[in-house]
Amino acid sequence: MLKVNHAGEFGAIRIYGAQIWLARRLFPDIVPALQEMREDEIDHCRLFREAMPARNAKPCRVMAFWSLGGFLLGFLTALGGRNMIWICTEAVESTVHRHLEDQLAFLQTRDPELHRLIASIQEQELAHLQETEKNQTTRGFAYRILLPIIGFLTDLMIWLSTWGDSSWMRAEMASSTPV
Ligand SMILES: [Fe+2]
Ligand SMILES: [Fe+2]
Repeated sequence: MLKVNHAGEFGAIRIYGAQIWLARRLFPDIVPALQEMREDEIDHCRLFREAMPARNAKPCRVMAFWSLGGFLLGFLTALGGRNMIWICTEAVESTVHRHLEDQLAFLQTRDPELHRLIASIQEQELAHLQETEKNQTTRGFAYRILLPIIGFLTDLMIWLSTWGDSSWMRAEMASSTPV
């Protein structure tokens, strides 16, 4: 969990970094909002890194992959305009939110300290999600096409980084939760 969360935050920093770089030239009005969110992701990345040693976790071996993937996603969406930036953030944050929910359920009794950390980070990610929803002027064709694609790519990255543990965890909890 720490490995994929840490790598994911790193990817998010790169997404925002690329978007900020282009937004400075194309639509500077949204730079402050993006910068604020990037600051949060830097914080999250550090917090997950700091939680690693006590739990014998190590950073993901394919950080370069996250770095490149994040940069490309940020850059390409920013080329599409303001709205596309917010769609990208919404897709990523809502996918991340779903995974954090799974993690929280799993950790509740297993690691209360990490549970607290993730819950506080999740609160900030939710604020990011609300901010993107607020900023979208239209939700047309691009929204319907891009949202599932970016959501799928985010899921795929998470799945690859945990070698499928993310879906194992979800199935395990589904079978142990009383209906
Ligand atoms: Fe984050
Ligand atoms: Fe975020």
